Amino acid sequence: MTANLRMWLTACAFSAAALVPAGGSAVAAGSATHKPVGQSAARAAEVNPRGLVLSLSCTSCHGTDGKSVGIIPPIYGRSKDYIEKAMLDFKSGARYSTVMSRHAKGYSDDEIRLIAEYFGSLSRNK
Ligand code: HEC
Repeated sequence: MTANLRMWLTACAFSAAALVPAGGSAVAAGSATHKPVGQSAARAAEVNPRGLVLSLSCTSCHGTDGKSVGIIPPIYGRSKDYIEKAMLDFKSGARYSTVMSRHAKGYSDDEIRLIAEYFGSLSRNK
């Protein structure tokens, strides 16, 4: 358990460091000269690196970049507005889900917006 947590934290620190170079802006990470991780991560950096870090917890169920396998619905391909509304509805109880209702309550509305912006940005401009 401790080892898993340490790995997860290392992954978070790595992602944040790769997207926000020391002394540079998040936008610089998306420039043509410096492509740190992959296209989707570079695009995400144009949104807000905090959105990416917050979104990591979603990927354990919804898959990398929200591309889930199995019965959990994918988030990839959904718009920012769709994801934000779904999360707010899960949080308020307007939309019921045993898992997501509990999960959504753990985030402020601002954090939900950042998460929705991150996932929404992954399939934008395709
Ligand atoms: C523990 C596993 C788990 C985690 C973690 C999780 N989800 Fe989900 N998510 C689900 C399941 C299961 C459903 C299907 C729920 C249902 O319809 O009752 C779902 C549904 C959704 C939907 C609706 C999809 C649709 O097609 O309408 C959205 C949006 C969503 N999740 C976003 C998120 C976001 C954003 C996070 C991270 C903050 C997250 N989920 C974290 C399991 C998870």
